[in-house]
Amino acid sequence: MCGIVGYVGRKEAYPVLISGLKHLEYRGYDSAGVGIIGNDGSLRVYKVRGNVSRLKETADKRAHDGNAGIAHTRWATHGAPNETNAHPHLSQDGHIALVHNGIIENYIELKRELAGLGYGFKSETDSEVLVQFISYNRQKYRCTLAEAVRISLHGVSGSFAIAVIDDREPGCVVTARRSCPLAVGIGTDGSCFIASDIAPILPHTKDVVYPDDDDVLRLSLPEKGGVEMMNIDGERREPTVTRVEMSADQVEKDGYDHYMEKEIHQQPQVMRECMAGRVLLGEDRIYLEAFEQNRERFLNASRIVIVACGTSWHAGLVARYAFERYANTPCEVEYASEYRYRRPVILPTDVVVVISQSGETADSIAAIRPAKEAGAFVYGVCNVDNSTIVRMADAYTLTKAGMEIGVASTKAFTAQVLVLMMLVAEMGRAKGVMGGEEYRALINDMVQLPQHIDYILSDESAIRRFAATLLPCRSMLYLGRGNQYPIALEGALKIKEISYIHAEGYPTGEMKHGPIALIEPEVPSVVIATKCGEYEKTISNIQEIMAREGRITAIATKGDTVLEKMVDNVIYVPDIHPMLMPILTVVPLQLLAYHVAVGKGCNVDQPRNLAKSVTVE
Ligand code: M6R
Repeated sequence: MCGIVGYVGRKEAYPVLISGLKHLEYRGYDSAGVGIIGNDGSLRVYKVRGNVSRLKETADKRAHDGNAGIAHTRWATHGAPNETNAHPHLSQDGHIALVHNGIIENYIELKRELAGLGYGFKSETDSEVLVQFISYNRQKYRCTLAEAVRISLHGVSGSFAIAVIDDREPGCVVTARRSCPLAVGIGTDGSCFIASDIAPILPHTKDVVYPDDDDVLRLSLPEKGGVEMMNIDGERREPTVTRVEMSADQVEKDGYDHYMEKEIHQQPQVMRECMAGRVLLGEDRIYLEAFEQNRERFLNASRIVIVACGTSWHAGLVARYAFERYANTPCEVEYASEYRYRRPVILPTDVVVVISQSGETADSIAAIRPAKEAGAFVYGVCNVDNSTIVRMADAYTLTKAGMEIGVASTKAFTAQVLVLMMLVAEMGRAKGVMGGEEYRALINDMVQLPQHIDYILSDESAIRRFAATLLPCRSMLYLGRGNQYPIALEGALKIKEISYIHAEGYPTGEMKHGPIALIEPEVPSVVIATKCGEYEKTISNIQEIMAREGRITAIATKGDTVLEKMVDNVIYVPDIHPMLMPILTVVPLQLLAYHVAVGKGCNVDQPRNLAKSVTVE
């Protein structure tokens, strides 16, 4: 939710900041702004409603020299997306500019106090209150910007990552965080790069500092002090520099039109990466480090409680079927946004599995605290190393899907499901629920996943043709049984998110209890009808839809000769162990959503109203 960048170094800050913002647009793109301390020492701020390209058009025409600056791309929380509410926000005296990702929860109270002291506010944002508060503290304590930021942190509640500049202290940028992602890259020449994730940093350096909550960093060139870090109590801390093993082109589009398209096509490779060192075919064994190191916690779990949001929640639903059936372990799946406020009964013997692509989703992070307080074991399944969830969990497994930029999650989902199936297999085998033969068969099938996904991707043109028929649709139904029900939900979510067609996911057997009333030729259904689960019953449900003149596309097992005689379209997926089938059936649904969105001319990678990483409530 919102992306921040900052730079101080030997180059002109403006192009570094603009290209940094481009990398972060997936976090929000309703307004954007940049603030730079020019070579003449003046603070210049340019802001627009709209995306980074619009900002560039405007700011390119103005003076933007200077070697230190900050910039922002916004996903509105407080106040409409307009120029006034766009960041950077300025202090009343015009000396300090701030960009902010997150929410200052006590901003109303602070605003009232500051207004009483004579401060005025131009915007509706919580962020402007924060910059005024920092300015107030700087004056009150007659201190440096970094010190004023540190003092201010004591007075604010909520979550934030901020970058701040002050024209009385040129050549320096101050940054801090609490519960929001922040990375600081350190270049070989001492230049410093601030960003909400490492994508804008990687073209410049691979040496990165991940500040902890309430760390304050003052960044300048080495001859002006370099990287100075202190905690909220003002104690100096030595920054830990991590070497990031990821190249800049791993985050580019690689010739695809959209990141989502690239990410769908990366899935065979993602499966390989995710299995590397974990699925040991020669030894007929799965090795999941987090499980091996915490066997007793997992095997003695009274239940597994999965907490997640959106697509990650769907991965959890897929896993529930497997935990119960193949590991004989009770499993509940919770929306993190509900779990955190529901005062759930948490047992010390629970294993709470937090699934998150970004590792920064505010609701999922908030679910960890009560789980830990109750003594439960928290296991994170995340795609981003060093993310907040990874750092808070007792153990974690990285999904290794590579950076996911498209707002609609695809490859992260299939990698999440794969990791969870590895865990189920480990638990099932150790508990004796899964016999040696089935365990080996599962491993054999797992290693086939990349080529099976390749097979599905090779039929993309058929899916594109089918997508073209859906363009006039206003509503769709997605149906699936058992572990395909979550895939129906995921298919519906994908098409909603990027093509704005209303879609509902339902368990196929639930159709006749209500949704069947919607069936008519204009409301097509996608039915997942693979051979793995209750196939005959699904065929009966398909007949019920056909009897009401519903148009049907079936996702069927390769070799099925029944469905093609019944329904309008069939998309085939290879046969595989039922635990792994959701990884295959979701791929055509991702492609379908993608091609419908492209056909409708929608902005696939930046769908309206959404942001990649939901770091606010
Ligand atoms: O980063 P996370 O996996 O925690 O994100 C959870 C959801 O916000 C995310 O899956 C969202 O639903 C995506 N837009 C789905 O495509």
